[in-house]
Amino acid sequence: MKYFIGNWKMFGVPTSINILNKINSFRSKDKNRNNYRVIITPPYTLLESFAKYFRNKKIMIGSQNCYQKDKFSSNTAAVSPYMIKNLGAKYTLLGHSDNRAEGDTDLILKNKVKFALKNNLKVIYCIGENKSQKKNNKTFSILKMQLNKVLEKGFNKNNIIVAYEPIWSIGTGKIPNPKDLLMTTTYIKKILTKIFRKNSPAVLYGGSVDENNVGVFRQIKQIDGFLIGGASKSSKKFIDIIKNYYR
Ligand code: PGA
Repeated sequence: MKYFIGNWKMFGVPTSINILNKINSFRSKDKNRNNYRVIITPPYTLLESFAKYFRNKKIMIGSQNCYQKDKFSSNTAAVSPYMIKNLGAKYTLLGHSDNRAEGDTDLILKNKVKFALKNNLKVIYCIGENKSQKKNNKTFSILKMQLNKVLEKGFNKNNIIVAYEPIWSIGTGKIPNPKDLLMTTTYIKKILTKIFRKNSPAVLYGGSVDENNVGVFRQIKQIDGFLIGGASKSSKKFIDIIKNYYR
């Protein structure tokens, strides 16, 4: 099973549901539809209406973050996994570099993952090195730490997806070369297999994926799908990514 996950970031108003409607109609006619899953993470403001609208359709909805507590608390503006689950969302995206930059530590992320799983949300956990870490050959040690400090054996691996997003690649148009990406995703799966003592959860690639470069990733069979930012805001680009992947 492959995943095409659209991360809308700070984008969208109620009428933006048209974008998802187009993706949904494409998917329902696509001969490859049983080989992949589409998940979209709109901002909190659209979670409830989108999750309701797509409840019986094939697009799944997730939040872009959640608070590191279970249910209710006195933290102003915080939204808990329990609240997200109750809106009908099925997934939550955690550890995105935007949120790490705003203060999400590994410890905070571990709590977020724990409470999200407890509330039956599936977790898309993002990891990735920045430009200077890459330059100084720190990529593997950074990824290892981001995985080991946050994920643990007791977590249900079937409810976790890991997204490898090199920070230098997010929104820059730069993508890793296929040889490096093969090595890195092999390494990530090795660490995950150690953590979970059996098969690795799905591992996605994210960072400047678009309809023109998606073919490059097809040769790396162990990549289980993509986390798509900018290109997910256009139904045409998102659909073309899927079409070009299966071409
Ligand atoms: P991008 O964003 O596809 O625009 O590079 C990816 C992400 O931040 O999830």
